[in-house]
Amino acid sequence: MQPKTLGEFVIEKQHEFPYSTGELSTLLNSIRLAAKVVNHHVNKAGLTDILGAAGNNNVHAEEQQKLDVLANRLFIDALVNREIVCGIASEEEENYVSVAGMKSDNMNKYVVLIDPLDGSSNIDVNVSVGTIFSIYRRISPVGQPVTLEDFLQPGRKQVAAGYVIYGTSTMLVYTTGHGVNGFTLNPALGVFYLSHPQMKFPEKGKIYSINEGNYVHFPLGIKKFIKYCQEEKDDRPCTSRYIGSLVSDFHRNMIKGGVYLYPPTSKHPSGKLRLLYECNPMAFLAEQAGGKASDGYRDILDIEPVELHQRVPFYVGNRDMVERIEEFIQIYD
Ligand code: AHG
Ligand code: MN
Ligand code: MN
Repeated sequence: MQPKTLGEFVIEKQHEFPYSTGELSTLLNSIRLAAKVVNHHVNKAGLTDILGAAGNNNVHAEEQQKLDVLANRLFIDALVNREIVCGIASEEEENYVSVAGMKSDNMNKYVVLIDPLDGSSNIDVNVSVGTIFSIYRRISPVGQPVTLEDFLQPGRKQVAAGYVIYGTSTMLVYTTGHGVNGFTLNPALGVFYLSHPQMKFPEKGKIYSINEGNYVHFPLGIKKFIKYCQEEKDDRPCTSRYIGSLVSDFHRNMIKGGVYLYPPTSKHPSGKLRLLYECNPMAFLAEQAGGKASDGYRDILDIEPVELHQRVPFYVGNRDMVERIEEFIQIYD
């Protein structure tokens, strides 16, 4: 039997939302479309450099942009032009974009937050990158411009979240609070097919993912956790894997079992990752896949954000491993 397409799946699941008007389905479909366009650009990233070097800067001028800037514009344009959200906040934009202000009859109720290209330093070396998205229902009244408060909602309030991974194959993985489902792009047809239904972290995690180059700057609890992972005991040592792209590291850990860590360092005293564009959506996915996300003390999803580009320490993955990290932090820090 032919697997379900993402488009079919989204429509089929619409009933899971009481009083649904189809707005969220349309929104998810626009993200799907934007993901395909970004995928097209990411796939020819190396080629773009060659074309750029030829000095052709008319048609290719746009393609010579840094890919994270381009991905940002492609996602924002896709959402703004279709008038399906009332506001967008992006890691690449200082302020949020208000869509409601552009059209007086805009009655849309959702805001979107995105990290348009995650792991962008990997682009130059042909390693997987991703896009992360997070969707909330606005809290200010419809028909009016969005407010900052619409974006500063705790992760618990997310209506949907997901990521696109531009990897060996391109996948879109998302949740609306009813489990996590993964779809793989058939590039010949330009269609995403349901390939990973109801994704779950395996019972036991065996991988730890952290930039160990920063070791000397880590809090003591994290140093102890790393040593614990390396210990020859029970089912340890763990395996160390770090791509340097949260999307890819998270995706692998969800499938194989493991934990991703970005602790505070002297360079990034509050951690490096952004609560709204990276941590909250990944935390929602983790929880829906049976895992957990923490800043070391609190569940990520319970944090009340205070600013758009807020950073937090981030530990996400298998529940038992995240809880172990919290224990180590409690004991040693
Ligand atoms: P972005 O490319 O959106 O700025 O995110 C990069 C993030 C994350 O994806 C990755 O895990 C982490 O930064 C890597 O940081 P280090 O290079 O400090 O390890
Ligand atoms: Mn990122
Ligand atoms: Mn980014």
